[in-house]
Amino acid sequence: MKIVVTGANGFLAQHLCMYLANKGVDCHAVSRGERRIPVAENIEYASLDLTDRSLVHAYIHAVQPDVIVHVAAMSKPDECHQNREACLLQNVTATGYLLQAAENCASHFIYLSTDFIFGEDGPHSEEDLPDPLNFYGESKLMAEKLVQDYAGPYTIVRPVFIYGRQWEGLRPSFIQWVQQQLLAGKPIKVVSDQLRTPTYAPDICKGIEQIIETKKEGVYHLAGKDILSPYGMALMVARVLGLNESLIEEVDSNSFPEPVRRSRKSGLKINKAIRELNYQPLSFEEGLRNSFAV
Ligand SMILES: NC(=O)c1ccc[n+]([C@@H]2O[C@H](COP(=O)([O-])OP(=O)(O)OC[C@H]3O[C@@H](n4cnc5c(N)ncnc54)[C@H](OP(=O)(O)O)[C@@H]3O)[C@@H](O)[C@H]2O)c1
Repeated sequence: MKIVVTGANGFLAQHLCMYLANKGVDCHAVSRGERRIPVAENIEYASLDLTDRSLVHAYIHAVQPDVIVHVAAMSKPDECHQNREACLLQNVTATGYLLQAAENCASHFIYLSTDFIFGEDGPHSEEDLPDPLNFYGESKLMAEKLVQDYAGPYTIVRPVFIYGRQWEGLRPSFIQWVQQQLLAGKPIKVVSDQLRTPTYAPDICKGIEQIIETKKEGVYHLAGKDILSPYGMALMVARVLGLNESLIEEVDSNSFPEPVRRSRKSGLKINKAIRELNYQPLSFEEGLRNSFAV
């Protein structure tokens, strides 16, 4: 089986490529920049800007993938808010180009969306109505709608607040940021009035593997099973690593102004994935212990 993974220099896509390649999958990893994903057997890397329609068509035509996992995105809400045109180009237009190219090879199209397509009152199920609170969420929802018009088989996967192990060439996730600050003895302020269901990257990889193997279509929430605030997560990092938790100051969103609106109570329900994909995510503490190998 031949799989194209986009955004292969990013946090989740690096995890996914390494996971699939370890399972012997022929993984074609593409990202905009120079290669940052480690060299590994079964991973063939190509630099590809997904906003260039003709390059996207030529690449997909040459590879003829059975599956495309579209992970690439402008994934920071603040950046999307400040640069709407670029956000639309990367999150919506590029998804459209990839879908058109995929249609010619009838590839199974798997799109990585987000809990940010929802508003307040989470955790949300797959049936809840979208109501994005910021432009990033709007752009991801627009892309979901393009995916829903795809003539071939498609699956939309929504994770939340992704974390996991970090290696050379991989950007830190929230948990490594907390670790670094505490190790340096720096005090940090973390919000306690926003709830999330943080997702361990290898759990998403297993869920996607299952979707590929069983050719499941539709929408699946692949999130963690624990509901925590970023403050609660930071405390857990300190406890698991034996670091100084008194450096972590609890703040609420009002005292910590951010350029974009974020849901107070977000997170996703995973009952459907448990039922249909045998999805068994780790607890946040187990995910942390695996991420830091402690
Ligand atoms: N992080 C989270 O907590 C979270 C939560 C829910 C959903 N998601 C979704 O999950 C996916 C992965 O998130 P992530 O945090 O792992 O992303 P990330 O680390 O920001 O990586 C995204 C990658 O996309 C690539 N990219 C962006 N524009 C591109 C273009 N025009 N052509 C080719 N590649 C392009 C970038 O490649 P280069 O580095 O090569 O430029 C970047 O490395 C995204 O779709 C995001 O919306 C993320």
